[in-house]
Amino acid sequence: MLHKFGGNWTQIKLDSLEKYLNAYLKVMKNQSFQLIYIDAFAGTGECTTKDEEALLGSVARALNTNGFDKYIFIEKDEKRHAQLVQFCRDKFPDRNVSIQLADANKELRDMFSRFDSKNWRGVLFLDPYGMSVEWSTLKVIAKTRAIDVWYLFPLAGLFRNAARNWENVDKSKEQAIDRILGTDEWKTIFYSEHPQSDLFSDDSAIVRSVDLNYLERYVTERLNTIFPAALEPRRLCNGNIPLFSLYFAISNDSKRAQDAAIGIANYILKNT
Ligand SMILES: C[S@@+](CC[C@H](N)C(=O)[O-])C[C@H]1O[C@@H](n2cnc3c(N)ncnc32)[C@H](O)[C@@H]1O
Repeated sequence: MLHKFGGNWTQIKLDSLEKYLNAYLKVMKNQSFQLIYIDAFAGTGECTTKDEEALLGSVARALNTNGFDKYIFIEKDEKRHAQLVQFCRDKFPDRNVSIQLADANKELRDMFSRFDSKNWRGVLFLDPYGMSVEWSTLKVIAKTRAIDVWYLFPLAGLFRNAARNWENVDKSKEQAIDRILGTDEWKTIFYSEHPQSDLFSDDSAIVRSVDLNYLERYVTERLNTIFPAALEPRRLCNGNIPLFSLYFAISNDSKRAQDAAIGIANYILKNT
């Protein structure tokens, strides 16, 4: 069964990841670390965009590099997991692959809370459908000081959940935003009291007083509170409708590692 999602932004996202993996492997070639690639929302290996364009998925692109000592893929959907197992068996039988049928947040927190940062370095790709990546997961990843992260942040999802009128932000939206941002301070930052347009009323309404650009800057600031560096994202749009912010963040606190990774990732974010 075809795995259909995305559009032209999918190509930019996947090309950015692929370019980074190739550059990363070149830089790490002469270092003594073991290298791991983790794809936490792995899909099936291949994908077809809604415009019927067939693309190699993130898993296939990572496996094609053939440079990592270990590959871990996490996929929650049983059918897609089975397809992915088959795909890896057929196309990449010699790679050291582990394919987990699991929830990404839980699996990542388990894996990274006991990660061997002395001997391993790696790249993690977070490519969820929606607002699924929990802040508590990002904190554990940032703590490894060993993992570089590409994160497709659902900017449109955040904008939609942070509805213009506070009265339309129900409990489930509130909780989804808390989970993805790891704080509830956004309520007072994004929202303020606004006089009603009705001149004859003393009422006021609570409304969102910040725009989409502000939301994106806020997310960047939040990521920079836990990662030594999170770069300005690449905005991914459908035509001129903003959908995602593609982030790169590095958890390594070595200045040399940061300079190398940031130089490469910045170039990719601006030129893909
Ligand atoms: C956008 S697709 C990923 C596509 C993939 N990166 C590629 O390039 O082919 C998101 C995938 O995450 C899976 N997924 C959704 N929620 C998940 C979760 N909590 N844990 C793990 N996988 C999840 C979906 O079943 C879907 O296959």
